[in-house]
Amino acid sequence: MNENNEAFLTPGIVGLGKGLPDKVITNLELEKMVETSDKWITSRTGIKERRVLEKDEPPSSLAVSASREALDNAPIDNDDVDLLVVATNVSDMPIPGSSPFVADKLDLRPEIPFFDLKAGCSGFLYSLDVAYNFVLSGNYHNVLVVGLEALSRVVNWDDRSTCVLFGDAAGAGVVSRSGSTGRILASSTFGDPSKSRLIRLEGGGTRFPPADGNKDGRNYYVEMEGKGVFKSAVNMMKSSSLQVLTEAGYSLDEVDWIVPHQANIRIIKQLAKSMGITMDRVIVNLDRYANTSTATIPVALEEAVSGGSIQSGDLVLLTAFGAGAAYGATLIKW
Ligand code: UT7
Repeated sequence: MNENNEAFLTPGIVGLGKGLPDKVITNLELEKMVETSDKWITSRTGIKERRVLEKDEPPSSLAVSASREALDNAPIDNDDVDLLVVATNVSDMPIPGSSPFVADKLDLRPEIPFFDLKAGCSGFLYSLDVAYNFVLSGNYHNVLVVGLEALSRVVNWDDRSTCVLFGDAAGAGVVSRSGSTGRILASSTFGDPSKSRLIRLEGGGTRFPPADGNKDGRNYYVEMEGKGVFKSAVNMMKSSSLQVLTEAGYSLDEVDWIVPHQANIRIIKQLAKSMGITMDRVIVNLDRYANTSTATIPVALEEAVSGGSIQSGDLVLLTAFGAGAAYGATLIKW
């Protein structure tokens, strides 16, 4: 298959957008809320500040902003979108999720299908995988994929071991056959259920239903075994990255940019080191946004593309890990 035919047939990300709350909470402000310090947070995580939704802002509003920007940047009409996938771990509501609220505010064809997808912090890459395969199948043509997270609503703001780590954001991408940018060369997703308890929010589901009256318990906050996650994260991102490179027939040396899940700068540096990649080829923005779960990769990708770091023709490797444990990687020719 020649390069032109390949460009025509391979689904690509043809538009990107992001949605961020206006409210910023710096490490210095956190020092006044819990027993922590800017020094501890910066040295252990690389985070300096995070964005947080105001109480009256619905989480889906971030996804709507990100989607509008992605659609504006894409060479398609809103009417051409035939599927909406919203990756999120904590939806606006357990039923019906977040995707209907996002669809309702966008000017899309009214009957198109939508659904929420839950795969920990890897949700955006899982959704890209779904979009890639659906578009490849020919059954869908233009899939709007969103990573949406408002973890500020479910972190315990009295628990210094978790509240300093997370932020709110959304990022969106349009996956389409209609363009030649952002061509997805390979996409792989994986899981390790033996690590399913490392990151969890137990309450609110059917195992610990709110109807049991446990509303004030710690079951309703995100909990994490940080060290356990840390140990697995590098291996998961490295193995999935090598897998997509092998699938697409590229070597690590040919990768121009890695856009890893933004959870902790030490994890990212360790990943780069273990892959023999220098940090000047790694996109990092967690100092400004903290860990926004499903939104980290699309927001970082959007900023790297609109800021001119990622250029046409660059080979870009996305990789993520998270609750589940779900992990994966996507290889893209920009
Ligand atoms: O998207 C995936 C989600 N999660 C992750 O990626 C998280 C992965 N893990 C991590 O990023 C790190 O494990 C953390 C940043 C969560 C923690 O770093 P650590 O180097 O593993 O620290 P630690 O948990 O071993 O805690 C060391 C000390 C403890 O005190 P003691 O027991 O040694 O006296 C903690 O109580 O640091 C204390 N500590 C804090 N001190 C100041 C924990 N949180 C804080 C804090 N400020 N915010």
